[in-house]
Amino acid sequence: MLRPPSDKSLTHRALILAAGAGLGARRGTETSVIFHPLQGEDCLATAEILGALGAEIEFFAATGEQPAMAIVQSYGRPVSPDLPLDCGNSGTAMRLLAGWLAGHDGLEAVLTGDPSLTRRPMRRVVDPLRQMGASIEGETAPLRLRGRHLNSIRYESPIASAQVKSAILLAGLQADGTTFVSEPSLSRDHTERMIEGLLGLQLLREGDLCVGVLGGQRWSGFHFDVPGDISSAAFWMVGAAILPESDLVLKDVGLNPTRSGVIHALERAGAKLRIEEREEDGGEPVGDIFIEGGAPLQAFEVGGAEVPTLLDEIPIFAVLATQCEGVTNFRDVGELRVKESDRIESTVSLILAMGGLAESLEDGFRVYGPTKLTGGTVDAGLDHRTAMATTIAGLVASGETKVTGAETVASSYPGFEDDLRSIVVR
Ligand code: S3P
Repeated sequence: MLRPPSDKSLTHRALILAAGAGLGARRGTETSVIFHPLQGEDCLATAEILGALGAEIEFFAATGEQPAMAIVQSYGRPVSPDLPLDCGNSGTAMRLLAGWLAGHDGLEAVLTGDPSLTRRPMRRVVDPLRQMGASIEGETAPLRLRGRHLNSIRYESPIASAQVKSAILLAGLQADGTTFVSEPSLSRDHTERMIEGLLGLQLLREGDLCVGVLGGQRWSGFHFDVPGDISSAAFWMVGAAILPESDLVLKDVGLNPTRSGVIHALERAGAKLRIEEREEDGGEPVGDIFIEGGAPLQAFEVGGAEVPTLLDEIPIFAVLATQCEGVTNFRDVGELRVKESDRIESTVSLILAMGGLAESLEDGFRVYGPTKLTGGTVDAGLDHRTAMATTIAGLVASGETKVTGAETVASSYPGFEDDLRSIVVR
């Protein structure tokens, strides 16, 4: 049994919204408690940045009586930081904070990050924010921001990206009027659920793919319990499915339908799993996942509107595909090319280096199965998900597997090695 680390997307959002809490004259004196915050490097970068902007954030380890928590004292008005704000490896931190900070009139800040982050595309948030009146120099990091009074827009995002949608909604909370954002298919909806369910603010919906937020709303501090991250749980779900004698329970996992493509894809592959869902907590569905190995596995297709619901899990699904009968096609996954690495190429390389069969396509790749993986040396290229996917592939490989360039695993999964040792029986 294992509780996977807490959800990264939810922790970033909870920290930002807690730091910005404040009602009228009491603005700046609100306290929020975030239970089970993810203390991975990405979320710690967000916490550090919010601290540099004037919030007080303290993390407490779990004790016998209390789970781990972060107590956040909001800032009155964010202060201009003296130094550049370092988002490290985190695209979510940079894009959400760009949206959140753009509307704080008078604020001056520079958002930067590690070499991988400075190569990632930022125009996807900079363009709509500029349309709202934001002053941002740079189209990749570093981004130099000067807070401005923002106007509302109606933005049709060309990509299904929760980071883009969230940046616009966070900016919209401070703009004049109502800001709408639509997307071609539904990306994770944590920001919308938090705005409505946690902050109690008004969110407007136009069909399934368009949401709007009214600017100038204020909110008070809150308590929020972060569930386990289904994207981290996915490594163990696939590991259990491909190791014949496995029997694993994953506790307290977030089961938001905009993230649960992983469950449907595993079911299509024939994996034996069962979900026990509990009542929603803070607007997010949560439950336990029971999974057993040994079921015959067949090739499964991934593509279309489902892609945003399992985008981060594709490297580990490629490992699953090596153990499935038939050819698995991953289509419409071009967004993988602009993640922490070019994940189409890094995933295909990892399969080939381990003795599997795969080929890349322009906006996807295919994996031929089943193959007996041999093991080998894989350079994860500082991509945390590639490194963890390779480790799981190593569990079914006949020889030794060596992963280099794995130093970023703690960005989303601190304690990955300890969890691996605790659940894998030799
Ligand atoms: C995230 C959204 C996804 C995901 C990333 C986290 C978020 O990116 O890949 O790991 O927290 O909003 P996009 O929605 O921008 O593709």
